[in-house]
Amino acid sequence: MFANESGTPDYASILHCIEEEVQPMLSQGKVASYIPQLAKVEREQFGMAVYLLDGRSFSCGAAHTRFSAQSVTKLFALALAYRREGHEIWQRVGKEPSGNPFNSLVQLEYERGKPRNPFINAGALVITDILASRFVESEIAVLQFMRQLADSNSLDFDRAVAESEIETAHRNFAIAHMIKDFGNLHNPVKRVVSSYCRQCSITVNCLELARAGSFLAGHGKIPWSEQVVLDQSSAKRINAVMLTCGTYDAAGEFAYRVGLPAKSGVGGGIVAVLPGVACVAVWSPGLDPTGNSLAGMYALERFTTLTKLSIF
Ligand code: DON
Repeated sequence: MFANESGTPDYASILHCIEEEVQPMLSQGKVASYIPQLAKVEREQFGMAVYLLDGRSFSCGAAHTRFSAQSVTKLFALALAYRREGHEIWQRVGKEPSGNPFNSLVQLEYERGKPRNPFINAGALVITDILASRFVESEIAVLQFMRQLADSNSLDFDRAVAESEIETAHRNFAIAHMIKDFGNLHNPVKRVVSSYCRQCSITVNCLELARAGSFLAGHGKIPWSEQVVLDQSSAKRINAVMLTCGTYDAAGEFAYRVGLPAKSGVGGGIVAVLPGVACVAVWSPGLDPTGNSLAGMYALERFTTLTKLSIF
């Protein structure tokens, strides 16, 4: 029913089915409220897009609606830093799952200011610091990189979200001060946290996000331009870190249920990579207690079940 005679998934029917199935879940999650501006987002929304390496794309629901990318931007910041600095970055940030919430401080003190991975806030702040030593404004470098990958100049910062987060970013300031005290932050704390919050405020829609992440499905190459963003080995490594750390302390559950490397954000977006085949983006603002989109995670689980495609 969901594949043609040659066994190729019927993506249009699959997305249609998923959109119907998620409807009862849209009222179940909780919109992120610790960033005041995000608390205003209407919860009952859902969009999904699939970008296939052969250039076709499929979408459903609110796939054209822009949302706050938040931690999804950490994926692009990491790719940019890795492209520039290579393996050196692992001197300053680890690549192990933390098993803790994304904004936790506890490991940082006894691990002497070296964050567990680049996707928890502590690690993303170190990546921002690495970029801040290279670029006048690291958040602009990340925005331009995402625009290039999404082939869309309309991606932009949401100033209201950024300001709202900077004013209330007490925990991120605490994390950054702790890292600075251990000597693992080279730029001023205020500059790093402000750049990080602006980066997180970048807005994107599902179609743009699926296209932007497709180089990770394409083993480092942008599928439509053949431009090499990362070599094959680096793309593999980023996908590996995404699988083990991209959804924080739910990474085990996510791998079990979905079976794809993915990166989530508290704006309700998730980008997932099916190496050699496609990049999938999903958005629904209601979150589960670990900060991952509730309907988004379910939609991806149904996607890999109905297409019979995952990395396993
Ligand atoms: O730093 C924060 O808390 C937010 N700007 C981003 C957190 C986030 O998206 C975590 N993802 N699930």
